[in-house]
Amino acid sequence: MFHKTQNKESLKIFLARMKGPLLTWVEQFLDLLEPHLTPSTTLNDIGCNVGQFYKGLVEKKIKIDYRGFDIEPIYLAQAKKIFPSAKNNFQILDITKETPPAADISVVSATLEHLENFSPALDHILASTKKIIIARTYLGEKQERDIMLKEHSQYPYPMNQYSFLDIFRTFAKYNFEAKIVRDRYTDSLPYYVPFETVPGQGLVRTQYVIVGRKTK
Ligand SMILES: C[S@@+](CC[C@H](N)C(=O)[O-])C[C@H]1O[C@@H](n2cnc3c(N)ncnc32)[C@H](O)[C@@H]1O
Repeated sequence: MFHKTQNKESLKIFLARMKGPLLTWVEQFLDLLEPHLTPSTTLNDIGCNVGQFYKGLVEKKIKIDYRGFDIEPIYLAQAKKIFPSAKNNFQILDITKETPPAADISVVSATLEHLENFSPALDHILASTKKIIIARTYLGEKQERDIMLKEHSQYPYPMNQYSFLDIFRTFAKYNFEAKIVRDRYTDSLPYYVPFETVPGQGLVRTQYVIVGRKTK
């Protein structure tokens, strides 16, 4: 389970972020999506965590048919506590094993890179998306599979990078035209991720945003 790959600080950090300004990725996704959103739009938020994206909808007073999915009951419980009136909108789902109900739009941020592999999770997301998908993950010329161990956690945390080619091919397989855009938070510049338990070691990752539009 995802939470076991984290440490005690992670949940505190996720919750602290809910009290601060909207996360930059949430702002970026909403700027991209806002022209396409109406009250009848259905949107799946995969890896919804404690409700960061939903908070964006609330703060910007955007009314849509939102569903947040996450594998971790501990995060979903927090999301329901923070947004009691939307408690039925947050549901448990393992995107590596299940296809969510169909939705006009799917969003997924900082989740695909922490799965063992993006397939079949990305397939499940694409298969259930009717119009637009926005995904934010680590990309590069080549696929790179790595794990790291967070301090005080016994479970390895995947830190994968997917190749541009794999992304374009997978999106095309499901009739999506994919465009890669700059991630606003990191400016899509490479950054160093130190291994918490191995001093002096770490890896480099670059975050991108992929916007996919269904063509047929
Ligand atoms: C690093 S957090 C990202 C949270 C949020 N989307 C963001 O970008 O701020 C990754 C989230 O994906 C969830 N997750 C991990 N594996 C999953 C799976 N197989 N199915 C659904 N959610 C998963 C985790 O529980 C966690 O809430």
